[in-house]
Amino acid sequence: MRAASQLNQRLLTMPRAASNFVCGLDQKSGRSVNKYWVGAFAACVALLIASASSASPSEKLSFGPGRPVPPGNALKGQHTFDAICWACHSTDLSGGKAPPLTGPSFYKIWQGRRVDALSDLIRNTMPRDDPGLLSGEMADDLVAYIVAHANNPGQTRK
Ligand code: HEC
Repeated sequence: MRAASQLNQRLLTMPRAASNFVCGLDQKSGRSVNKYWVGAFAACVALLIASASSASPSEKLSFGPGRPVPPGNALKGQHTFDAICWACHSTDLSGGKAPPLTGPSFYKIWQGRRVDALSDLIRNTMPRDDPGLLSGEMADDLVAYIVAHANNPGQTRK
């Protein structure tokens, strides 16, 4: 059941602008269902399924430039990181009072492990001095930020 509800959540939080555009959900003319709309709808479902499965939380983490970033809002994750996590992991994620969340030693631990394992660890044990502070969504956003930092370095502060 958990997997199914997570999938639903994924579908809801997916790149909404993109799916609205393709699916025409915003368009009033969608009322008149004709062959065009049926085709567009089928394409839209295919897109949603493809995106959902390529970004499912059970997917494996993969670090390296250009590799996929798990679902979650990396920008929000960055804001949370800069408010809380930096104090121990440092603003550039390189570690300090706590282990680094970037670089070879971190990748070695997490490469190939599940996205939701990292999210759960963050949610359940971090911040170290106040575990339980974060929501599941915040933890997902933090995972997206941590991976984006490694995989899309141009889009996050280094
Ligand atoms: C008060 C210090 C502190 C804060 C704040 C903190 N952490 Fe940590 N973090 C640690 C320590 C210490 C560890 C090492 C493992 C342990 O003691 O649980 C750790 C470990 C981790 C790990 C596992 C690293 C590995 O090598 O596998 C992750 C991921 C992580 N923290 C993420 C976060 C995130 C995200 C935040 C912000 C919400 C955060 N931490 C805030 C101290 C902190």
